[in-house]
Amino acid sequence: MSRDQKFFNMHPSVIVAIVLIALVILAFSMKMPGLTQGAYTSDATERIRPVGQVYRSGEEQEAAAPTVETVPEPEPVATVMSGTQVYNTACIACHGAGVGGAPITGDTAVWSERITQGAATLKEHAVQGYIGSVGYMPPKGGRLDISDAEIEAAVDYMISESE
Ligand code: HEC
Repeated sequence: MSRDQKFFNMHPSVIVAIVLIALVILAFSMKMPGLTQGAYTSDATERIRPVGQVYRSGEEQEAAAPTVETVPEPEPVATVMSGTQVYNTACIACHGAGVGGAPITGDTAVWSERITQGAATLKEHAVQGYIGSVGYMPPKGGRLDISDAEIEAAVDYMISESE
């Protein structure tokens, strides 16, 4: 008689107890909430869901569509710069230091001769551009986005500073 058989013969109550314990555990595990096969699989599917998802065209989900908020465009405000502002924005780069021979604002000696041409001619030269004896004055100082009237105001400012 093998040792195992001896054991079974001698301890039938132990065998019964083991079987009972096994049955209890089995019954318990089947009753455990959240451990049913279906729930477990769907939980796992949710946990391992990729962060980004691909939809074939036509099967996009409503929720996946980005929400586009339309912000009304603000009404454009027409701002007119003063002569001083235009000068400080577009002219001072050359006329502040005399770059490329530009007559320096405030240099009355240089400006007196130019002013004798008349303000209208100076304004025309500033708006249209001008190639004189000392250099090249680009149209509107290169700032074609600035209106004629604003450039003319800047010329008035330069004249008033240089008389
Ligand atoms: C890139 C440099 C540059 C910028 C920027 C510039 N100028 Fe000039 N400007 C010149 C030069 C150089 C002359 C001299 C041209 C000459 O007489 O040979 C000149 C000349 C002038 C004259 C005298 C024209 C004449 O008939 O004697 C006026 C007026 C003038 N600029 C206005 C302006 C105004 C207004 C602005 C800004 C909107 C401006 N400039 C920006 C270079 C510049």
